[in-house]
Amino acid sequence: MSEFKRYMITSALPYANGPVHIGHLAGVYIPSDIYTRYLRLRGRDVLWVCGSDEHGVPITLKAKKENTSPQAVVDRYHEIIKKSFEELGISFDIYSRTSSALHHETASEMFRTIYDKQGFIENTTEQFYDAEANQFLADRYITGTCPHCGNEKAYGDQCEKCGTSLNATDLIQPRSSVTGNVPQLKATKHWFLPLDKHEPFLRQWILEDHKEWKPNVYGQCKSWIDKGLQARAVSRDLDWGVKLPIENTEGKVLYVWFDAPVGYISATKELTPDWEKYWKDKDTKLVHFIGKDNIVFHCIIFPAMLKAEGSYIMPENVPANEFLNLEGDKISTSRNWAVWLHEYLLDFDGKQDVLRYVLTANAPETKDNDFTWKDFQARNNNELVAVLGNFVNRTLVLTNKYYDGLIPEATLTEADEAILSQITTIKESVEKSIENYRFREALKEAMSLARLGNKYLADTEPWKLVKTDPERVKAILYVSLEITAALPVLLEPFLPFTANKMRTFLRMDKVNWDELGTKNLLTVGHQIEKPKLLFDKIEDKQIEAQVNKLLATKKANEAENHKDEAQKENISFEDFQGMDIRIGTIVEAEKVPKTKKLLKLKVDTGLDERTVVSGIAEFYKPEDIIGKQVSILMNLAPRKIKGIESQGMILMAENIDGELAFVAPDKHLKSGSMIK
Ligand code: 2FM
Ligand code: ZN
Repeated sequence: MSEFKRYMITSALPYANGPVHIGHLAGVYIPSDIYTRYLRLRGRDVLWVCGSDEHGVPITLKAKKENTSPQAVVDRYHEIIKKSFEELGISFDIYSRTSSALHHETASEMFRTIYDKQGFIENTTEQFYDAEANQFLADRYITGTCPHCGNEKAYGDQCEKCGTSLNATDLIQPRSSVTGNVPQLKATKHWFLPLDKHEPFLRQWILEDHKEWKPNVYGQCKSWIDKGLQARAVSRDLDWGVKLPIENTEGKVLYVWFDAPVGYISATKELTPDWEKYWKDKDTKLVHFIGKDNIVFHCIIFPAMLKAEGSYIMPENVPANEFLNLEGDKISTSRNWAVWLHEYLLDFDGKQDVLRYVLTANAPETKDNDFTWKDFQARNNNELVAVLGNFVNRTLVLTNKYYDGLIPEATLTEADEAILSQITTIKESVEKSIENYRFREALKEAMSLARLGNKYLADTEPWKLVKTDPERVKAILYVSLEITAALPVLLEPFLPFTANKMRTFLRMDKVNWDELGTKNLLTVGHQIEKPKLLFDKIEDKQIEAQVNKLLATKKANEAENHKDEAQKENISFEDFQGMDIRIGTIVEAEKVPKTKKLLKLKVDTGLDERTVVSGIAEFYKPEDIIGKQVSILMNLAPRKIKGIESQGMILMAENIDGELAFVAPDKHLKSGSMIK
């Protein structure tokens, strides 16, 4: 364990412009919950803060889209996010919000202190302006091509594809997100944080003193610093945000990435009057949990702000994760391609730990990973049910069956002692992994205790020995019960609801992490509960329902993105009149043998009854269309299809999914009526 006296843990403040999804959870909130729960179990002095990021263009854009105010947007999503975090057992000490008065005050103070110390450069520069919308185009109000990676949808302040932080004027072919217009340049005054001035400090602090940071984090910082740091504007011409705390700056606010990380400090202030100790004392270990798109803001810009202010400590680590994809596709709020936490909680009532387990076991710690519903089901059924649930259940059932639920007195063999000593060995490796932010590995190790228990029961077969060697069975169950009692300690950081259930089954209190392995957890004669199941199998139909939900989203997105075919070249009225189109009535219909798509129709055209071959068999059954009125192009030159002469063509309408429908009159007309 490290030499620090206390811990200050922060998790990226989610934008309150939409609910939280599994990508957020796997990248930031579940890892930080595991870490903090672990520290608490060890009795450390730890504070963990988070809250909604309620400023910035993501919010105002959403308000515009929903035709409402930014305040209404943040009020709505703040509540949804807060509630769903609570229900998943994400155990922040506080979930605050950046629209609070205390935050405005704290962020203003931070700016003012740096300003008074001459820590900013004041500069009038040309910024993009949309004359039609009558506004400057800050950050996400402008999109264009990233000069570094070619991503055509880079924002004015950042390219989310390559993670580079940009100035809007760096973008190639910039466009206004408000009107789509090519923006003009217009002069405006702003305040800049001279990152170049802080470069020697950042180079030493990160590149020399923190070589142990995750390679993705260290690498991004290095490439940023090596490219040469430039001054970054920290004010914006917007009307939503923290007002610039300087006179005569009407219409200007702090850049959202200036105010948001200060939100960590405001949240701590809101939580405790003792907040300074957690932010200013060198004995505090400050750790920021974030996703990879936030690296430069937390490793370069925020530290430069803190340094310029002068009284704060630096983060000890910034364990950023990569991204989680969903069924092979990038998670996207705007495309609704996500598993939303609040919806999961409704669809999988009481299964919080299943999601926590799957997202930890498959966390994108070193590379982007994929979430699939099949994998979710398999991990539940083959790991939680078949390994953990099965071991605990067998132990509880046998203890109840043989000893009425009382812990038996037993004489252990050396082999039994060796099995029990594994509890300490496993605990130590879980500890090491968690302290190095390797949470998937840590979970795997914790689960290995349940695997060990299962193997021990399978090897010793107490159910066979019970008649011949009852003394031995007592020892086997004693060992199994001790393992069962150790599991909720090891699993508490990962699966808090399950750990709670297990403690209830065993009628035991919470055990401190450091006590584990130093003493027996259960006393002889202690009464446990009747067996209950720890996990249920997830059935195919539940998974199919989720997959179908995603398919519906995919279809809706395709329909929205569908570009209508361009209009064809003009034709003359005479050309149109050249077509003889009439109303016909289908009088006979049958499938064309050995084809999937074709029907042979006999159509009453008013003039005659003629044969037409039509490719509609996938959409209509022959028996359902007798008597239907259709439009028929009479004077199309006859042609042979599958040996049948087709005399004309039935007109069909086709949607983007390729579905066909008859073009028919909206009231019954005599066959032969002309279409003109
Ligand atoms: O990327 C995001 O979702 C930001 N809202 C994260 C902010 S983190 C912190 F600095 F507040
Ligand atoms: Zn890029």
